[in-house]
Amino acid sequence: MPETGGMTATFLPAPSAPAAHGERGSYWITTFGCQMNKADSERMAGILESMGYREASGELEADLVLYNTCTIRDNAEQKVYSYLGRQAQRKRTNPNLTLVVAGCVAQQEGESLLRRVPELDLVMGPQHANRLDVLLAQVEQGQQVVATGEHHILEDITTARRDSAVCAWVNVIYGCNERCTYCVVPSVRGQEQSRLPEAIRLEMEGLAAQGFKEITLLGQNIDAYGRDLPGITPEGRRQHTLTDLLQAVHDVDGIERIRFATSHPRYFTERLIDACADLAKVCEHFHIPFQSGDDAVLKAMARGYTVDRYRRIIERIRQRMPDAAISADVIVAFPGETDAQYRRTLALIEEIGFDQVNTAAYSPRPNTPAATWPDQLPEAVKVERLQELNALVERKAKERSARYDGRLEQILVEGTNPKDATQVMGRTRTNRLTFFPADRGDGRHWQPGDLAAVRIDAVRAFSLSGSAELA
Ligand code: SAH
Ligand code: SF4
Ligand code: F3S
Repeated sequence: MPETGGMTATFLPAPSAPAAHGERGSYWITTFGCQMNKADSERMAGILESMGYREASGELEADLVLYNTCTIRDNAEQKVYSYLGRQAQRKRTNPNLTLVVAGCVAQQEGESLLRRVPELDLVMGPQHANRLDVLLAQVEQGQQVVATGEHHILEDITTARRDSAVCAWVNVIYGCNERCTYCVVPSVRGQEQSRLPEAIRLEMEGLAAQGFKEITLLGQNIDAYGRDLPGITPEGRRQHTLTDLLQAVHDVDGIERIRFATSHPRYFTERLIDACADLAKVCEHFHIPFQSGDDAVLKAMARGYTVDRYRRIIERIRQRMPDAAISADVIVAFPGETDAQYRRTLALIEEIGFDQVNTAAYSPRPNTPAATWPDQLPEAVKVERLQELNALVERKAKERSARYDGRLEQILVEGTNPKDATQVMGRTRTNRLTFFPADRGDGRHWQPGDLAAVRIDAVRAFSLSGSAELA
């Protein structure tokens, strides 16, 4: 067996001789999950291209199809199975097709995916993303491969094929050591593994040299950054924290904006808030999921903070950065959530005034404590709460957008508006999507990577429009 650690291989006759390096056919990747999942897809695309694959024009034309999956909620998981059914059928008439399931469903289901979809060639967990080439070499020898063992993630030496030429993600910590009672992430993403600040800085310097202007530092719980790295300062604090990391990478030349996600209220520090306020490139946007506005529900979720602590974090952010945008994630209809508890979530949204909130109805997940609790709420309650919540989130977002009306905002141009080729689009520092005419009025067009001063003249709940003012 060529692999160890939770990995099995079944030997099948090779479908065809492996193609020579540099002419391996075409690939297609569909990404189902979060920013980390997207970042993994970009790295896997980079590996495929360095192996000689080129991007296919469509899913049904590709010689290799890779689904990078998500299992955060049941509907995310089910979507993959319907996509897979279609490809499995294609494989019956086209045995040279290589079918890969990567990401969090792959990690969760492992070998049982092969039983469910015997046409699969490779099932690989997220910790194996950087090893796609090694695993595919085994597939090319005619094996069906399952790689889901706990794995020390190799330093990211792969060159990602990034979807944007302006904004890039940089992983700083993999995995999650929290145990929120609803969440599958720790079981599918494994133990926390922080990258060294020098490696992160080096990657950012490389990105700046390629023309990238904005970096989002990524971790499922980014505030945990560094707690698995050794080192204590003379003052007796951990040497490696997110705050120290921001300070260490802030001056990379050419990078104009730095963001980070996802923040955890339990570990979000005043020191971090102060650093964000003091470091000019760190954008005034904070994504800090609160999940519930009720202390008893937060406790049942094992989140480790109270609503009051959350309030104090937001107050402190707004003291130091009055215009900061705040976004969050929230779950309604958690097991046992009463109507009164749910109303406290609404009240907190009303009170804080979020710029954006990702909402979800609770979905029971495999191997999580909350899924086994008896007080699950009926589907009708989930739907009703979610609808009411979404209406409130939109109303509050609209109120928050109103403050931009008439203002001059710095927009980093990302590309053309896909719905109107005469416009470009980009984001404010606070992360509001903004559209404005591509024509600069001086015979040139705004280009991706340009910073434009845009006078906002139309505001909507989740986007803005305006026109650029030439200096
Ligand atoms: N690490 C981040 C969130 C990761 S998952 C954090 O700690 O906040 C992204 C979001 O999906 C979560 O914030 C939560 O709102 C939602 N989510 C996670 N598990 C869920 C479940 N079982 N049902 C519904 N929503 C869920
Ligand atoms: Fe899931 Fe909690 Fe970890 Fe976020 S912090 S990924 S919600 S376990
Ligand atoms: Fe989904 Fe895995 Fe991300 S479950 S949300 S893709 S960490």
